[in-house]
Amino acid sequence: MTTSTSSVPIDLRSDTVTRPTAGMRQAMAAAEVGDDVYGEDPTVRALEERVAAWFGREAAVLTPSGIMATQVLLRALTRPGTEVVCESDAHLVAYEAGAAAINAQVQFRTVDGDRGRLDPQRVAAALRPAAFPYTEVAALSVEETTNRGGGAVHGLEGLRALRSLADDRGLVFHGDGARLWHALVATGDDPIAVGRTFTAFSVCLSKGLGAPVGSLAIGDAEVVAEARIWRRRFGGAMRQSGVLAAAGLYALDHHVDRLAEDHANAAALGERIAADVPDAVDPGSVTTNMVYVDTGSRPAPEVVDALAVDGILVGAMGPYLLRLVTHLDVDAAAVQHAAERVAAALR
Ligand SMILES: Cc1ncc(COP(=O)(O)O)c(C=O)c1O
Repeated sequence: MTTSTSSVPIDLRSDTVTRPTAGMRQAMAAAEVGDDVYGEDPTVRALEERVAAWFGREAAVLTPSGIMATQVLLRALTRPGTEVVCESDAHLVAYEAGAAAINAQVQFRTVDGDRGRLDPQRVAAALRPAAFPYTEVAALSVEETTNRGGGAVHGLEGLRALRSLADDRGLVFHGDGARLWHALVATGDDPIAVGRTFTAFSVCLSKGLGAPVGSLAIGDAEVVAEARIWRRRFGGAMRQSGVLAAAGLYALDHHVDRLAEDHANAAALGERIAADVPDAVDPGSVTTNMVYVDTGSRPAPEVVDALAVDGILVGAMGPYLLRLVTHLDVDAAAVQHAAERVAAALR
């Protein structure tokens, strides 16, 4: 845990920077393992069953990364040459190095959202007619929470409206739930109801939940069985991965409810910066663990460098835009200190 008085940098670049806690490391060391390619790792099986049940779904498969969970699902759910509709700034489009074009061999049709959230009417307007020679639309994909949208949340009703559109148009409804637990903690929505809105979706253990590795692709048994084959084809089938699954099980026991602390820290961060520099942050936009900061006339890379000298690490997300993410490894005092330094850098 980084505190405001420690010499370790206060790292707010992402919630992926967390390191496993002592308790998590103990759980990993004690994990019962076997060869998961033979289906013989009891800890992996326990994690997959627990996560599937958490969301009221039949099955789940553990993958090494969030990107792989998404890729195996898109490959299982679509055919090459079809189209996936998603938000213009989705992780899938912005950060996956063109993976879907290579793996699932699909093209994207992107729709501008509101802080990454898709509006069903705008999506409907962008859908091509289901008739040759139009490109066949196969899937609607949504991110919950939205990463480049600043941690915004569709919520159960928003997801249901998109699912209903997908059903009407014969599309599969895919979810990138890298931070789905953040959304659930923020809204209080029922995880089973949310889990059932998707045809299939992923969750990550390696973001705010603090595990070193691991995501899961979740859905009906048939889709997950197909995703499991694609995981193998993509080289992501692992052996004694119970060591990793144990970290995930530990995170589910200890690190889900506490996401509320990260949300409260992010809200405090946004409010503290806005109190000094009102144009920098709209505190009302901070709903989960991310704060996007407008640097005004000072270029974001310059602010990043200045803060790094102060021992505060933040990310530049645009020429005049910073992202600050709260997580398990920074406490309220560290976040408050960082907020003061960010405000000072922008004043
Ligand atoms: C919304 C979203 N989806 C997917 C991913 C990919 O996860 P990974 O880095 O584990 O592949 C991330 C990573 O931060 C993300 O923010």
